[in-house]
Amino acid sequence: MCGIVGYVGSKPAVDILLDGLEQLEYRGYDSSGIAVKCDDAIKVYKAEGKLSNLKEELAPHAYEISKATMGIGHIRWATHGAPTVVNAHPHTCGCGKLVVVHNGIIENYKELKAKLEEKGCKFRSQTDTEVVAHLIASIYGEVKDLAKAVQLTTKQLEGAYALCIMHNDEPNKLVVTKRNAPLVIGVGENEYYVASDVPAIIKHTKKAIYLTDNQVATITPDSLKLEDVNEQELTPKIEVLPWEPVALSKMGYKHFMLKEIHEQPDVIRNILVGKLHTSDSPIVLNEVKLTRNTLKELNRIQIIACGTSLHAAMIGKYIIEDFCGIPVDVEASSEYIYRKTVTDSHTLVIGVSQSGETADTLTAIKQSKAKGSHILIITNRPDSAMAREADSLIPVSAGIEVSVAATKSYIAQLTSFYLLALYMAEIKGTMSEEDLNKIKSEMLLLPQKIEQILAHKENIQTCARKYSNTRDFIYIARGINYPTALEGALKLKEISYINATGYPAGELKHGPIAMLDETMPVLSVLMNGKVYEKLLSNSEEAKARNAKMIALTNSSDQKLDDLFDYIIRVPEVDELLSPIVAMVPLQLIAYYIAEFLGKDVDQPRNLAKSVTVE
Ligand code: G6P
Repeated sequence: MCGIVGYVGSKPAVDILLDGLEQLEYRGYDSSGIAVKCDDAIKVYKAEGKLSNLKEELAPHAYEISKATMGIGHIRWATHGAPTVVNAHPHTCGCGKLVVVHNGIIENYKELKAKLEEKGCKFRSQTDTEVVAHLIASIYGEVKDLAKAVQLTTKQLEGAYALCIMHNDEPNKLVVTKRNAPLVIGVGENEYYVASDVPAIIKHTKKAIYLTDNQVATITPDSLKLEDVNEQELTPKIEVLPWEPVALSKMGYKHFMLKEIHEQPDVIRNILVGKLHTSDSPIVLNEVKLTRNTLKELNRIQIIACGTSLHAAMIGKYIIEDFCGIPVDVEASSEYIYRKTVTDSHTLVIGVSQSGETADTLTAIKQSKAKGSHILIITNRPDSAMAREADSLIPVSAGIEVSVAATKSYIAQLTSFYLLALYMAEIKGTMSEEDLNKIKSEMLLLPQKIEQILAHKENIQTCARKYSNTRDFIYIARGINYPTALEGALKLKEISYINATGYPAGELKHGPIAMLDETMPVLSVLMNGKVYEKLLSNSEEAKARNAKMIALTNSSDQKLDDLFDYIIRVPEVDELLSPIVAMVPLQLIAYYIAEFLGKDVDQPRNLAKSVTVE
């Protein structure tokens, strides 16, 4: 989703802004732009599509803009108005002296626009953001102070925003503010960087200030003044970022997605270090701040998430109920926030999010927190807005995930759920020692099992090629792997645009079976365990309708050879842990199909990695 950058200092700003935007590309975008302060005026350049188009646009002006040492930049993921040049940011006021970049949505923009039009403002774009430029400029005309104009403007704005603003009459000054959208300020030597996310600043500085909602920062090369919207001065809190720039390299892989799939064995190993030592030692989860007594008495859990994290949450529900006997509800955050939810101080609410910034999940978490629930956040970003809301924080430590399609963060979320469920089961005494030890010893072997799958991925690649020429794809599973089918289908549709759907196999005959014929691939996630035979029967039913049958299985059952057209075998694993092992080939199938079809694997069309608007 949109990303903003800013720079004020003494270095050439254009390269810093473009590089910063490149580091935010993973968020997903469809146009871009920058504004830089040149000798006598602020110059704005914008382009549709990828950043390479913006670079082409800038090329003829290279000399003119090379001396600029201050500027702002933006990648836009279209919400209000098509992804055209005129709708791209930065947006300017009527006279062009004030420029703004914005991430978020101004919900009351129509009313504000009507008022500004009455005053004579002429609008050029269809965006909500242009309203902000005109509004600040109109207030600036009266108060002649950029920070004050921004403070007064934000009092009129409804919705979410991270804003970075500059004005030609206030040289060497950026003003930034935010509400319900991420913004970080990098602190350098006589220079400051602004960005929606750390990757855009980490190669310049490790010192940063995370702005909190309704704070306004006025930045010059050698000063930073932090205030609230009522001009009360605040003390900035400078943090040291726990990031390394090297994390953003593809390390020789063709795509970030393929690299991130291959990182999964190490991701699991890293999570288990310090938490699960041996099969007979207790789980160490100091991150859970609930007392043992509260945990023992806990009788209800709600898990809220979106997208891939929602699928991890569904598996989380399955294992917490299985291991601990606590009822768990799982809900998409976007649904949760617009209904009357029965949540109180006796409910544990778990928010799951790779980015920790997803607007719907963040709002849902804040709602539950206001009702007194203990908030446990499972996130890959311990520096995120959600992490700051957490009473208990389980960082999944997958490392930065660049590919828009989530892979290693999903496996990391699952691993964290297993640890949490085992930890609670140990405290509540709901599992026998034998069962606990069995799961724990198998967990310690998971990295090796994934390595075995990755070592023999050619079979998966062949399967992907064989079925890449299809418009539709069905995934079926039962029990604990039903969310695996959903996630496998989601991966495929995200990056190949094939219409893929996951079904609980027992539901096939209640409708979806009508779609089956010899053109339809049906992939069955057939793991040994209590639903194996049932799923086999469902697969027979699909075969009887001439569907092209694919098995993803850990069974050596010979009768599968007759039933399935293609078989992908994975190592034997306990059914309760099989979602981790089963997911890796499904990620690879999606990857190889998309790659074979020549799709933009890491940055699929229309998608954003971090969805910071509701
Ligand atoms: C976007 C991403 C998905 C992700 C979802 C939830 O749609 O493209 O990959 O699963 O947001 O994001 P979160 O950061 O909350 O896990």
